[in-house]
Amino acid sequence: MPHIVVKSYKEFATPVKSDGYEFLWFARGYANTKDTLVAVRFEEHQFFLTIKPKDVHYIIKGDKITRIAPTYILKGALKYFCKLANCDVVHDNLSSIKPVHIDKAKSFLKDIDYFIEHFPTKKEVWIEIGFGSGRHLLYQAKNNPDIQFIGIEIHKPSIEQLLKQIALQDIHNLLVIDYDARLFLEFVPSNIVGKIFVHFPIPWDKKPHRRVISKKFIQEAERTLKPGGVLELRTDSRAYFDYALELFLEREKSKLEVTKNIEPPVSSKYEDRWVRLGKDIYDIRMYALQESPQIDLHFDFTFSKISSYKHFVENFDTKPKVYNDYFIHFEKLYKIEENRFLAEVSFGSFDRPTHLYLLLSEGSAQYYPKKPIASQANIKAHKKIEEFLNV
Ligand SMILES: C[S@@+](CC[C@H](N)C(=O)[O-])C[C@H]1O[C@@H](n2cnc3c(N)ncnc32)[C@H](O)[C@@H]1O
Repeated sequence: MPHIVVKSYKEFATPVKSDGYEFLWFARGYANTKDTLVAVRFEEHQFFLTIKPKDVHYIIKGDKITRIAPTYILKGALKYFCKLANCDVVHDNLSSIKPVHIDKAKSFLKDIDYFIEHFPTKKEVWIEIGFGSGRHLLYQAKNNPDIQFIGIEIHKPSIEQLLKQIALQDIHNLLVIDYDARLFLEFVPSNIVGKIFVHFPIPWDKKPHRRVISKKFIQEAERTLKPGGVLELRTDSRAYFDYALELFLEREKSKLEVTKNIEPPVSSKYEDRWVRLGKDIYDIRMYALQESPQIDLHFDFTFSKISSYKHFVENFDTKPKVYNDYFIHFEKLYKIEENRFLAEVSFGSFDRPTHLYLLLSEGSAQYYPKKPIASQANIKAHKKIEEFLNV
């Protein structure tokens, strides 16, 4: 990932603007961290740079929680930060700032808030999870212009490669999101999806809880699929096939189709690799049988008046708090200025936690850089966090 190693840097007065980047404030390690965070705004994006002391140097890079894509935005922020902070640079890896074609394609990259607020529902939706090189997704999008495609990935280089191809091939029916697919389906309206492709998911033999296909995922897929819609799993792993088939069969009612070594309309990068090695390829298709009820995705994560944030700050407790079906973990605390703090917190469900910051000042608290998404576990954790801030 892009980073700069410096011998020294100087904090500068904020807020300040440089080449489209607005540097808003510094937050310095106060409890459980020696890092400094720099809040940055670029167009509609807000994120942090992290300054990490390492031996006699500092490593400056993008913050993981507020991570920003495409990478050229981060590279620009690092470059302009160092210009303002008079960095004494030892080393950097920012050789290219702006990839060709990315500007045009950027409009196809959407964040989760976009999908929660404006989920595209005018056309039938097809979703590909973990599109990798994007070969299958691009093929489907070009050949089905009346369908709205959504590609979900967590691997940034794959996302950037797909965005470039969308621009080069002039495709207009494909939106991309950098998000964990295990969470995404919770935010898809019911009964609007025609197909969900999960092709060659990582088998995670040693960490099965990280698998994309799970009981909850199948439930959510069935809810989002319209009657007759299909969830298609394609895998070279016999163990994953067996695991998934068992889960599909746990459903009270289900219509499944199993095939082996059937050639697809287009072969993905992984498929090519496994076929070259002579492996068998298995498909399971699960068809949705009925309409599902609609879901409500809106919850107001605003805090009411905070009575005792000082108590919270002075007794900052990093011990994870575990409840029946959610947890809260206050991890690090930063000081921005007198009476203004920033807490790093993770919370929500155990297998798909939310990582965010809390901006705290006299009488008020708010999530930063944005509110959590309205999963049931997040709503419960929010109510508990509010209690902690009002002890
Ligand atoms: C083995 S590759 C297969 C790529 C592509 N489907 C193909 O057939 O060539 C699995 C892909 O799934 C992505 N992935 C893994 N877990 C994911 C998750 N929870 N959400 C979204 N994408 C995920 C990985 O980044 C990787 O690109």
